[in-house]
Amino acid sequence: MEKYHGKDLCKACTREAFYLSPTEVINVIKVVSPATSANLGSGFDVFGLALSSPADEMRFREIEDGVRIKVRGYPVPESSEENIAGYVASRVLSAKGVEAGVEISINKKIRPKSGLGSSAASAVGAAYGVNELFNLEMSREEILHFALMGEKYFSGAEHADNIAACLYGGFTCVSYYPLKVLSITPPEFLEYAVLLPEVEVETRSARAMLPEKVPLASHVRNLANAAFLVAGMLRGDGNAIRTGIRDEIITPLRKNYIPHFEELSSAAIKAGALGFAISGSGPACIALCDSSKIAGEGMAGVLSEVYQKHGLECTTYAGKVGVGCSVK
Ligand code: HSE
Repeated sequence: MEKYHGKDLCKACTREAFYLSPTEVINVIKVVSPATSANLGSGFDVFGLALSSPADEMRFREIEDGVRIKVRGYPVPESSEENIAGYVASRVLSAKGVEAGVEISINKKIRPKSGLGSSAASAVGAAYGVNELFNLEMSREEILHFALMGEKYFSGAEHADNIAACLYGGFTCVSYYPLKVLSITPPEFLEYAVLLPEVEVETRSARAMLPEKVPLASHVRNLANAAFLVAGMLRGDGNAIRTGIRDEIITPLRKNYIPHFEELSSAAIKAGALGFAISGSGPACIALCDSSKIAGEGMAGVLSEVYQKHGLECTTYAGKVGVGCSVK
């Protein structure tokens, strides 16, 4: 956290201020908001995993009024109502009656339309940062609520899987109406490798292709897998995770827009991955690994080799499961 103090007390909060210079009061907070991988196969709209990289960096500064957005890194809109962070920050400021504004400088390191929770990182980061900046003392549930408003407005659907993992870190399960989050610390051995192809997928269109109804038998098998995944995370049981990540409802429909999905999946499993899944709505894919068998970094090498062989470009990320949004 970084703080500057000017001549007056911060208008909207009770943080102490000192007479350091005859300038305006400048209160600054820096927040790191992680990428996340949603669904993990069987848990469509329910499971989320925080990644240790990439992560957005967001700097919040109190201004006279309104919401001002500055962006570097991956380009996203700077108009506050077209930027999800700006949208969420505005909602928090007005709901909480804050009599000041905020400037949010975003270093966007999570590529939009990647399947790595780029919009969730902005939405959670905004609610979290404004809460910190103005000492609003919101609970995590409230922060989640504001972030979900943003996610719903921009993706057209109320899915809280990415935002829950982004806020809580680790492995999360959400239940809806009312929204509840179960936060689970994954086993120490768990690492991931993500491959991000040079393809863009809009969550809204990746959802539009999904069926309204699913066969009961598919639902039963996916439900069983989801139960195994949760149990595997809780017990530190790699075999249960291996069973649990499988999905026969969403993946068969979405895998077609991920170049060489089947080949990536086979290479990952052959090299010892516990499982392979589309990350969120894609195009990123994630392999979960038991690091005592193969580390995330090694698995990232296996995945990128598949793309190299086909002359395709990609970005990989690997590491341990990440922590939630935090003040830097
Ligand atoms: N659960 C959402 C979906 C995640 O798969 O559409 C979007 O990243």
